[in-house]
Amino acid sequence: MPRAPLTDLIAHVSRTGGSIGAFTCYNLEQLTGVMLAAESAQQSVCLLLAEAALRRDSGPLLARLLVAAADDASIPVAVQLDHTQDLEMMARALDLGATAIMADGSALPYAANVDLVVRARTIAEPSGASIEAELAHVPGDEDTAAAVDVHAVTDVSRAVEFVRDTGADLLAVAVGNVHGTYASPPDLDMTVLSELHAAVPVPLTLHGTSGIPDDQVRRAITNGIRKVNVNTELRQAYLRAARNVTSDEVRGWNLLTPAARLIEATRAVTDTHLRRCQPQPAPAAI
Ligand code: 13P
Repeated sequence: MPRAPLTDLIAHVSRTGGSIGAFTCYNLEQLTGVMLAAESAQQSVCLLLAEAALRRDSGPLLARLLVAAADDASIPVAVQLDHTQDLEMMARALDLGATAIMADGSALPYAANVDLVVRARTIAEPSGASIEAELAHVPGDEDTAAAVDVHAVTDVSRAVEFVRDTGADLLAVAVGNVHGTYASPPDLDMTVLSELHAAVPVPLTLHGTSGIPDDQVRRAITNGIRKVNVNTELRQAYLRAARNVTSDEVRGWNLLTPAARLIEATRAVTDTHLRRCQPQPAPAAI
């Protein structure tokens, strides 16, 4: 099945009350683990390409791998260039087949953020790719984890104005979420989130899902989150599995069985997040 625009996937889950799992893949083992989990759950996913990964020598090949995996899937799969302010990187990812871009100007002043998203839309328009934007910066680094404190919360009326000014297809919100690991236990602001959901005319996305407890992720989905981004937990599982090379494997200089464990570790994390993304049961009547 050909890769899908992210907005098509989101439109589908919006009808059922679920969410799309979005998973960063830096290599083939991670990609394989994510796709095995998605295929076995028969759930659509968004494959996230980190800008820093695309900048590496292996970047174009990695992007093509993600696109090929999406095209080969039996379920609709999107490929998104994650967090970038670089218009040239956006164009490169779209040329390589990405179906979505996250134009992240959240660290910029309001007007510059709007300008970035409008330019990104112009670049994406010919291919029909979706544009995700962010208002109120979700702190933390996307590729390395450090304990991060919560900063700003997305302002509801500003968010409405921002979506009107930019024409963004999806809005990433800051409601107590951070990238990386949490300096203090996560406590998402469900009140602000439900207000955002009621007021903002486009689907909302949650970044920094690693480390947020199961019940909070499920409540966030009930309160309108239609895409959850996961990276740190995948890296943690991968690197823990990478430490467990056996002496037999070293003796035989065997790469295949360690790789199988890396795939399995990635698959297990993805499974957990995909279960949370399934449509949430309606609260029981009292
Ligand atoms: P985590 O690394 O905290 O899971 O965040 C991932 C993310 O939001 C990618 O955009």
